[in-house]
Amino acid sequence: MAYDPELDLLYVGVGNGSPWNYDFRSEGKGDNLFLSSIVAVRPDTGEYVWHYQTTPGDRWDFTATQHMVLADIVIEGKPRKVIMQAPKNGFFYVLDRQTGKLLSADKFVPANWASHVDLSTGRPVMTGEADYNKGPKMVVPSFLGGHSWQPMSFNPQTGYIYLPAQETVAGLEAAKAPEFLPTKSVVNLGLNAPDLPEDPQITQQVRDAWKGRLIAWDPVKKAPAWTVDYKAPGNGGTLSTAGNLVFQGTADGRAVAYAADTGRKLWEQRVNSGAMAGPVTYEVKGEQYVTFMVGWGGALPLIGGPLSLGAQVQPEARVVTFKLDGKAKLPAPAQQARDLPPLQTLAASAEQVQQARTLFNGLCASCHGINAISGGVVPDLRYLSPAKHQQFAGILYGARIPKGMPSFNGVLTMDQVELIRQYLVKRSHDLAAELATAKGSKAAQAEPAAQR
Ligand code: HEC
Repeated sequence: MAYDPELDLLYVGVGNGSPWNYDFRSEGKGDNLFLSSIVAVRPDTGEYVWHYQTTPGDRWDFTATQHMVLADIVIEGKPRKVIMQAPKNGFFYVLDRQTGKLLSADKFVPANWASHVDLSTGRPVMTGEADYNKGPKMVVPSFLGGHSWQPMSFNPQTGYIYLPAQETVAGLEAAKAPEFLPTKSVVNLGLNAPDLPEDPQITQQVRDAWKGRLIAWDPVKKAPAWTVDYKAPGNGGTLSTAGNLVFQGTADGRAVAYAADTGRKLWEQRVNSGAMAGPVTYEVKGEQYVTFMVGWGGALPLIGGPLSLGAQVQPEARVVTFKLDGKAKLPAPAQQARDLPPLQTLAASAEQVQQARTLFNGLCASCHGINAISGGVVPDLRYLSPAKHQQFAGILYGARIPKGMPSFNGVLTMDQVELIRQYLVKRSHDLAAELATAKGSKAAQAEPAAQR
């Protein structure tokens, strides 16, 4: 939410609809007000004043709950009181915040669900390319959005918005019926669980297609002034200062400062883990500080484990504060042991492994990662020790509830529990093969040098 004391208006960013598939929500009809909208109300009474819907009839989890920035800017020679938002759907919106009139809407990342926004009607022109209710589709951006919850910032001196953007894509397919199935995750999306083939080369290709990008967006020119690319999404919110700086934490565990006008990197420092939140700056006794709340979690490193930086960053929650000439030293990052324990015997048939994979991706992947590849927040189950294999059923039936591992007692039969365990055995065999291949190609690369 954002509040404008001058106009006495409260702006509320509204989320998506559930189930995602709007064929099941409203027979695929209507705009579904006020989903994916900015709604302006009188804060004292709740009286409706105006609304603008960014994604009518949303079916992609394109929330408009992203951070909204209020600013006074000059557009085509005219001073305007605007509200700006970059919601998940990939368009950057500038609205007149007195009336809700759309001033501009432009793509800040690739988006295939709409070609453009018609400024006369204020509505997106849909392409149909992402309409998964008519068959499986590659949807751009994915449900994690072109911009997620990480706050953007506006610098009145440069006139730019510093936007923690990302490029993502997801293959979606409608489910036949909106029923709740025990093989589906906690939420009923009305679509088949997003699938990702187990082939490590395909996993790598999709991972390479998911990128992070810091964009200095010029809302007057409706285009980026400069950009910085990151190798993965999930980078932190931004802070920009009167001293011509932009601070941002990164998914690969750094705190970085850029020149706000040019994007030139001025400084960086390791912070040990993904820094997702927005930094803050403040002064105490004449000294200026900047603080990063470092921490790695959320949907990307959980269900999207194979697509995140995975094992490269461990969750290590810390408040890290900098000042000029600071002397404290950050400890070395916590490293998880990565030796693969002795492999268990695989007793399940190929067909059973397929059934088990459906169960796993439906019930366990939301935390332990699709195809049992963890993003590092909860244990990677391909690395289960022989002792944990022994305790497996107990853990699934509630032994670790206090540690955040839910109980599947009453959900999974003993046979299904064993089936899922077999899937994990299979995935540890796959991992052993991948590690051997990687070691082999490394050794092959190193050989000529050793001979010389
Ligand atoms: C809501 C999130 C969530 C879901 C869903 C979930 N887990 Fe877990 N799981 C956890 C957490 C958190 C832990 C770590 C608990 C601890 O620290 O002891 C864990 C731990 C485990 C462990 C012990 C790992 C170890 O090395 O100690 C096993 C085995 C396990 N989970 C299996 C499963 C299976 C199988 C499923 C699906 C049927 C599943 N989990 C679903 C959150 C989840």
